[in-house]
Amino acid sequence: MCSKLVSVNLLELLRSKQPILIQAPLAGVSAAPFRELIWQFGGPAYCVTEMISAKTLLAHASKRFLYKAPNEGPLCFQLSGSDPDELKQAAIIARKAGANLIDLNCGCPVTKIRKKGAGSKLLSESQKLYDIIKAIKSEVNIPLSLKIRVDGISGDAFNQDVVKIINDAGADFMIVHGRHWTERYDVPARLDEIAMIKAASSIPVIGNGDVRDYDSLKKMLATGVDGAMIGRASVGRPWIFQELLAAMRGEVYALPSIAKMGALFLKHIEGLRDLENEKLAVLQARSLSKYYLRAAGVAPEVHRQFIGIIAWAELEKLVFHIFV
Ligand SMILES: Cc1cc2nc3c(=O)[nH]c(=O)nc-3n(C[C@H](O)[C@H](O)[C@H](O)COP(=O)(O)O)c2cc1C
Repeated sequence: MCSKLVSVNLLELLRSKQPILIQAPLAGVSAAPFRELIWQFGGPAYCVTEMISAKTLLAHASKRFLYKAPNEGPLCFQLSGSDPDELKQAAIIARKAGANLIDLNCGCPVTKIRKKGAGSKLLSESQKLYDIIKAIKSEVNIPLSLKIRVDGISGDAFNQDVVKIINDAGADFMIVHGRHWTERYDVPARLDEIAMIKAASSIPVIGNGDVRDYDSLKKMLATGVDGAMIGRASVGRPWIFQELLAAMRGEVYALPSIAKMGALFLKHIEGLRDLENEKLAVLQARSLSKYYLRAAGVAPEVHRQFIGIIAWAELEKLVFHIFV
């Protein structure tokens, strides 16, 4: 489908009063094999890539970051960087690789990224933020979102400025992760601050943080946001978007069997093997296993059995043994 058409429909969807669900960018996870599983079930308005540095994209665009599988739905490329021109050029490359939307990462808390003036650092660099939005919008005719953080208890007071700049500079919508960049997952997402940003913004706002079931989704939507972005809860549970949409319609969703969950896990790792290589895929299986085990209701200590695996045959044997 023509990506401009997809983009227009997405913006219309955002402006309608029907809340949308979006799969979050997840470094180390949301590459094409993961997104293909999500699309196998369907439900999100779009999926998001792993964070991609604009510099890396310009210097050496590796397949993992650029590849969009033929059976994927609308895709947003999430870019990180701090230089308006570099980000503009990277957005052009992303567009050519099949991006239907571009997202600018303004939330990454990692010191290495912040030291480069990127990620959450951009939230205290209002002029730069403005220039970046203008630069990308001047060249790329697909929607641009910004994924930001909230003030939390920091006293940074950046929210008011930042919301105004993002609106004034012409971004199409924003995604708000309800934690300050210094806060980890032990702090619950601050829904009151997400509501404050939504109230101050004339462009649509998507809420993000701790949505994992219908109850938490309802709490997020009660802030007035136009949709919810789901990160951790979608790993190992690619059906979650359909499950939540069914709940919103008052229907009960039939979960896949445990054996099917094991098959999904293997399909994810097979996809990584095809995209990269077997060694890297098996390494990723070690960490991804904990999400699939949790989804299947398997005791967390079983995860230890995956730590030492080095060969594909071992992985398959373990999955067939556990997911029954
Ligand atoms: C493993 C992992 C990787 C992440 N990578 C990114 C990323 O590349 N870009 C980004 O904006 N946020 C990233 N995040 C943050 C998530 O997108 C999301 O904002 C956060 O997890 C809160 O949403 P959740 O409670 O639904 O998981 C990452 C989170 C996790 C757990």
